[in-house]
Amino acid sequence: MVPTVEWKDGAVRLLDQAQLPERVAFLDCRDYRAVARAIKELRVRGAPAIGVTAAMGVALGAQSIQSTDFDVFSKELLEICHALAATRPTAVNLFWAIERMKQTLAACRQLPVEDIKRRLVEESQRILDEDIAMNKTMGRHGAALVKDGQTILTHCNAGALATAGYGTALGVVRAAWEEGKKIKVLADETRPVLQGARLTAWELMQDGIPVTLITDNMAGALMRQGLVHLCIVGADRIAANGDVANKIGTYSVAVLAKAHHIPFYVAAPYSTIDLSTPSGEQIPIEQRQAEEVTSICGKAVVAPAGVSVLNPAFDVTPAEYITAIITERGVFKPGELAGRFRA
Ligand code: MRU
Repeated sequence: MVPTVEWKDGAVRLLDQAQLPERVAFLDCRDYRAVARAIKELRVRGAPAIGVTAAMGVALGAQSIQSTDFDVFSKELLEICHALAATRPTAVNLFWAIERMKQTLAACRQLPVEDIKRRLVEESQRILDEDIAMNKTMGRHGAALVKDGQTILTHCNAGALATAGYGTALGVVRAAWEEGKKIKVLADETRPVLQGARLTAWELMQDGIPVTLITDNMAGALMRQGLVHLCIVGADRIAANGDVANKIGTYSVAVLAKAHHIPFYVAAPYSTIDLSTPSGEQIPIEQRQAEEVTSICGKAVVAPAGVSVLNPAFDVTPAEYITAIITERGVFKPGELAGRFRA
């Protein structure tokens, strides 16, 4: 797989996901504003990937600050952090990664500004490397839940493209496949922005993992026919009580899975767990523009001009619908998370 995000020649290089699957194209962001725009426009998306990208955006922004006075440098850097944090509200990984960059700044305050700039680049690279390592560990824990010959339904894209690499939900799929299990994936297309059709199908095909694309409204019928053995999805934010915010439509899949006695798993690293948010009720849900619903990716118009539209980008699945949460520290019941992840 080509890298989702990397620091390359003093720029943040993104695989432009808005162009997939038609074109594999890269976007070189040379200032932090370009990074913020790329996050807003879903050129990079997926909770861990936007966290890593925002951290690199902070490091990039730092390079352009002229002052060598720490207080001036620090004030300007915090403004850059603020701009990057204002891009998308739901995925907590974004705020988590920016917070880590702020902590690096605070820990380096005795150093010359030139050294701080280097440390910030190093920290963003560390966040990226840790993300891939966590996904691989998570994949191994999750693979133990998958049996040879099973079919896994997934929603949205929680793969290599949504992370620094390997993926969360698709990391579990990859690990099971690498163990030699003959598994199959059913990918929900995931309207309105089609992350399942455009991205999950693309990345699994790149790796030769069997994937069958379905429209979102087919999942229930296929479950009823016994064609789905388990569901695995990613998460944008997990509240302290185990409620999970993820791509719109995840809740419907979870309710259907429960009705058909099919296990429903969420795979996510600790950077997605937000113990400061007591329950899903308090998770801010991003509302996106109507055009995502009234057209297919801005190409074919599918609704009358001026129709009223709702477009919440995420929903909350209550903990009671979730069989277990797969993390890099192991597999836990939603209600066990707070105890396991308290600092
Ligand atoms: O709007 P997106 O594409 O950023 O939404 C992505 C999702 O909802 C993913 O399922 C989630 O971020 C987990 S990614 C490992």
